[in-house]
Amino acid sequence: MKKKIALIFGITGQDGSYLAELLLKKNYIIHGVKRRSSSANTERIDHLFDSVNFSNKNFFIHYGDISDGTSTLNIINKVKPDEIYNLAAQSHVRVSFDIPEYTADVTAIGALRILEALRILRLKKTKYYQASSSEMYGLLEKKKSLNELTPFHPRSVYGISKVFAFHAAVHYREAYGIFASNGILFNHESPRRGPTFVTKKIVQGLVRIKKGLQKKLTLGNLYAVRDWGHAKDYATSMWKILQYKKPDNWVIATNKETTVKEFANRVAKKLGFKIKWKGKGIYEKAINLDNNKTIIDIDKKFLRPTEVDFLRGDFSKAKRLLKWKPAYNTDDLIEDMISSELEDF
Ligand code: NAP
Ligand code: GDD
Repeated sequence: MKKKIALIFGITGQDGSYLAELLLKKNYIIHGVKRRSSSANTERIDHLFDSVNFSNKNFFIHYGDISDGTSTLNIINKVKPDEIYNLAAQSHVRVSFDIPEYTADVTAIGALRILEALRILRLKKTKYYQASSSEMYGLLEKKKSLNELTPFHPRSVYGISKVFAFHAAVHYREAYGIFASNGILFNHESPRRGPTFVTKKIVQGLVRIKKGLQKKLTLGNLYAVRDWGHAKDYATSMWKILQYKKPDNWVIATNKETTVKEFANRVAKKLGFKIKWKGKGIYEKAINLDNNKTIIDIDKKFLRPTEVDFLRGDFSKAKRLLKWKPAYNTDDLIEDMISSELEDF
């Protein structure tokens, strides 16, 4: 049987690396798009290919950038993939307050460039996956589990850009018959998570404190609620979404909520710290009861001008129709992140 060809934009990121592993196991030929950078950015996928010659027999890397429409179209034309996964984005919400125009160009218009290439090239059989986000929900009227019908009220240019890309996928589906699906993924983490996202920052920070390499961990809003899953599970959902009989929009989540503070408490406990919280607002801090020193404090530079206070996803549609459910719960996720962090010492 002819091998399927997948083209992954964002292959060097957390999700791209897990998705590439999964698709290689499923006997796909993988083409990935990598940005040129002055230092190595293929750390998460180096185990999958020859990083000097940029290939193995089922794995090819192309230089590209979704802010560059011509090269994006050329790569798609050359590869003529069965499936495109658009995971490329300026994906940091806080950073999108600092570089809004760039974020919109990559995260919103980048997705449009891929869809336009599909339209212009008339690649009607190519399926398109858009990495949509729970960040699109933003401001909520009520704290409840969010589903495919919940309206969007984004709270950052990142969120606004994802709403644009979401609607672009729906529009190209309706206007041109392109198989374009949206995975509305809630937060998902792993040992490969970028170091400035809160879960990785907490795990890395507390492990380094344990090893005597760092004095304290400084965070922002402790009371934001997130629905945290494992990126490995979520990569499987992306593949399942494109195997479904028709294009659609899908919520992928665990339907469990945890605050940033609870997450930090659980990591601290698993590492054997005894901590006690005191103070309020930006003066709140956690004391390490073994030495009476501050182990976690707050700095307002990590607060956002507008926050998404609450995210919890109802994935019942994906469970029913895609037969997808998460294998990892939050504790399994924390265990995996801690043990991988400890391996580095
Ligand atoms: P990530 O680790 O930040 O990876 C983003 C990827 O996009 C990296 O490969 C990055 O390349 C690439 N990229 C950035 N700008 C690009 C450009 N102009 N052209 C081409 N590639 C570019 O993010 P992730 O956690 O894997 O998330 C994957 C996607 O899902 C993102 O679109 C994100 O917004 C979305 N999402 C993530 C979550 C989550 O909780 N993780 C939830 C919902 C949606 P470099 O390696 O060179 O930086
Ligand atoms: N990054 C960060 N750093 N966040 C902090 C910190 C800190 O020091 N302290 C508290 N937080 C809070 C943030 O204010 C936010 O409410 C929550 O922790 C999670 O922040 P992030 O880990 O940066 O993730 P995010 O929820 O903003 O965005 C992630 O999830 C989205 C899906 O909902 C990213 O992966 C997005 O790309 C993704 O779309």
